Amino acid sequence: MCGIIGYSGPQEAVSVLLDGLAHMEYRGYDSAGVAVEVDGVLRVAKKAGKLANLRAELEARPLPPSHVGIGHTRWATHGGPTDLNAHPHMSSDGRIALVHNGIVENHAAIRAALEERGVEFTSQTDSEVAAQLLGVELAARGDLAEALRACCRALQGAFTLVAIDAQDPGRVVAARRSSPLVVGVGDGENFVASDVAAFINHTRDAIELGQDQVVVITPDSVEITDFDGAPAQARPYRVEWDASTAEKGGYDWFMRKEIFEQPRAIADTLLGRHDERGQLTLDEVRIGPEELRRVDKIVVLACGTAFYAGMVAKYAIEHWTRVPCEVELASEFRYRDPIVDGRTLCITISQSGETMDTLMAIRYAREQGAKVIAICNTNGSTIPRESDAVIYTHAGPEIGVASTKGFTTQLVACYLLGLFLAQVRGTLYGDEIQRVTDELAMLPELVQQVLDGADDIYALARGMVHIEDFVFLGRHVGYPAALEGALKLKELAYLHAEGFAAGELKHGPIAIIDARTPVFVVVPPAGREQLHNKVVSNLQEVRARGAKTIVLAERGDTGVRPHADALIGLPRVSTLLQPVVAIVPLQLFACELATALGNDVDQPRNLAKSVTVE
Ligand code: M6R
Repeated sequence: MCGIIGYSGPQEAVSVLLDGLAHMEYRGYDSAGVAVEVDGVLRVAKKAGKLANLRAELEARPLPPSHVGIGHTRWATHGGPTDLNAHPHMSSDGRIALVHNGIVENHAAIRAALEERGVEFTSQTDSEVAAQLLGVELAARGDLAEALRACCRALQGAFTLVAIDAQDPGRVVAARRSSPLVVGVGDGENFVASDVAAFINHTRDAIELGQDQVVVITPDSVEITDFDGAPAQARPYRVEWDASTAEKGGYDWFMRKEIFEQPRAIADTLLGRHDERGQLTLDEVRIGPEELRRVDKIVVLACGTAFYAGMVAKYAIEHWTRVPCEVELASEFRYRDPIVDGRTLCITISQSGETMDTLMAIRYAREQGAKVIAICNTNGSTIPRESDAVIYTHAGPEIGVASTKGFTTQLVACYLLGLFLAQVRGTLYGDEIQRVTDELAMLPELVQQVLDGADDIYALARGMVHIEDFVFLGRHVGYPAALEGALKLKELAYLHAEGFAAGELKHGPIAIIDARTPVFVVVPPAGREQLHNKVVSNLQEVRARGAKTIVLAERGDTGVRPHADALIGLPRVSTLLQPVVAIVPLQLFACELATALGNDVDQPRNLAKSVTVE
């Protein structure tokens, strides 16, 4: 989830680009860079770290004045956050500069083919593949827009590309497939960018490009075609937001925006997970299959929301691999003399990759000889660097302190990892893995269906502003979903909210329930009769004590209706995957209730986004 911008017009390009990047820094801050055309030569400046580093570089070594250029602020996916991996990337002949947002799925195959033709790469990114390919296409075709269209036809995955050609001054070309791109239409100047925040200080007239479209801007023209060169239509609109609302995509909070980004974040996390033979792959693997087959115990280590993702992982991993799997709070692990050795595999889950409790736990595990696989959202952070293998979630930067898209993408990565281990150990057949993989591919659409019902959940939340105690119940993987729902409410609304395993209720917690207690109940899909019926009994138990029940159940589950004061319909999905859809209404509920209470949703009191002390 990078931020990209292109400009063509009379203003000084570098300052327009830097201003645009400053308004998109929330999209990524691993590195930043700009390229401008000056007298038929491309001049580039790029620096790892925040935009401030690039500004300092440009103050020390200013680029000459120019009126056309591109810029990028990076959220690293392929290749660590270094100067070399920063965008813009150049073609080997120096003619093309290109910035990219998204994931090029077939980068390895294209890179190999280009290397065979003598193209030399300077970075580890999938993005440089697009720059080099565009350079080769331009040399063959002579026209930048034609070359970009050919390049797009060859690329697979999700991408927005913006490029300039040293020999074609004044023109900026851009393309999109499944990644955002808007055109800003100015007076004698035009812009392209990942979002309107980048150019809102210059113009409020925008055009939203459609899928698989290419746009060419000059100071006084905007031409849109499809990937085959046929003229195409795109949606013009007027931006009414102020700059701060624009950064939040029109939402009141980053957190709410991040909740609504989940379909895209999940889809990105699923991208590029198969090699040419159709086998599931991880991002960085420094453990051999033999070692993975020798593993006799798996321990999942994490904190907070990531720990709840780990609880779900335990169910999936044990079910698919038949290896005993424990899940433990990272902060407890190393202080109890745990049994860990060379046949133990630790899986660590961390959005930030910097949580000190988690880091200390994996260091301890490695000292005992265990191997560690990290699930992490932050490329180049400490935890993946100190692990033996990594699977990155591609959620993009999570700015709201309360984790939302971080959690659902962690769940997806846990499923992928469970399937990967089952593949390596041969505990599932290929068609069984394929069936789950196909179901995972449906999740973005299913999460979108839940989001489409947000207004009903908001109304429910606004009706509960006077309540101070909440209970959340679930069984099986519904239990961690209930715990995560309760945590969201605690973090955001500062209210007492407890999650319990539904079966545990009658062993004590039921004593706190009375007519004032709303009880959220996550009901397993009706296909799991035994599990489902047990939860329906629990529903009846709490209702008999006068509690109001808010039931999250599969749409069409008529069995729960008589026991529900409010019913939240979930799309049909298999039991193990249900937390991905079940958590979304609970996130929306907590966000809306906290907003109604006047709390700061993005920066709740007493909390930090990344906990870097033990
Ligand atoms: O960055 P991490 O995933 O390692 O962070 C772990 C927890 O600190 C984090 O999930 C925390 O619980 C969030 N505030 C939850 O919303």
